Amino acid sequence: MKKVLVTRPMPDAVIGALSAAHKVAVRDDTGPMSRVEMIAALQRFDAILPTIGDAFSAEIFAAASEIRAGLLANFGVGYNHIDVTAARAHGVEVTNTPGVLTDATADLALTLILATARRAGEGERLVRAGRWHGWHPTQLLGQQVTGTRLGIVGMGRIGQAIARRGHYGFGMEVAYTNRSPKALDFPARQIETLTALAAEVDFLVVAVPGGAATHHLIGAEVFAAMKPTGIFVNIARGDVVDEAALIAALKAGEIAGAGLDVYENEPEVPEALRLMENVTLLPHLGSATLETRAAMGLLAADNILSFLAGEAPISPV
Ligand code: DGY
Repeated sequence: MKKVLVTRPMPDAVIGALSAAHKVAVRDDTGPMSRVEMIAALQRFDAILPTIGDAFSAEIFAAASEIRAGLLANFGVGYNHIDVTAARAHGVEVTNTPGVLTDATADLALTLILATARRAGEGERLVRAGRWHGWHPTQLLGQQVTGTRLGIVGMGRIGQAIARRGHYGFGMEVAYTNRSPKALDFPARQIETLTALAAEVDFLVVAVPGGAATHHLIGAEVFAAMKPTGIFVNIARGDVVDEAALIAALKAGEIAGAGLDVYENEPEVPEALRLMENVTLLPHLGSATLETRAAMGLLAADNILSFLAGEAPISPV
């Protein structure tokens, strides 16, 4: 029996799958691991199931020196909190959970598009505050979503799932940027530059992975290129966007609104954003359905079970 650490409470099925074969410790804290915890975990466990916020940086691997763990089976498709190069250099493999959260995350992107365009947050706040005094023809007029133009930054699995929903569900004309050409099974136009894409769409949605290569990919230039009626949506990672530039663009009326699920310094959300009525703010709910979180946990567990059985992990990064 090997020793496995699960760094957050998980659905019972996930712990059950691991416990049937190995000795499992579950950390009951819902917050990120501390430096000391991460170092101790690398030294004491054969495999670790970490997630967002557990910042396994190069410094942590170096400080652990005597590393027992052979695998970090990340719970989540995004793994920008793990320095994969440093992990490999210390003999630690890394896996993630692609595929199983695509639909839930795409659904949430549409939630943000609709909520922001149709001013759902403002409407909800009005009703809850007891300030709704009745229907009238010019109350809380929003923007139409059906038949508009949707721009996707990053046409990977999640970008495609968002685009499909826009095209088939809302009759949207889809355009996108992507590092390489994509063979797609629905109509969409690839555009060379981000600013050209930003200039022609009504909704600009970011769906690229986080990490050094995409840090502040979306900044002042992109917001300046957007239509003043444009709405910006981020379901990817907070630091893909220069948050200060986003706030400045919203304040200056360069764009009409934003729907955000992720933030540059999560869980800190700038007060400037919290005070804006034209911004929809969610607490990183992209994959937060019971079905999806169970599937993510089971895939992470399967990666651990394969690895500890001496087989190749299912979804290496
Ligand atoms: C992921 O898997 O990276 C998501 O951000 C979690 O919702």
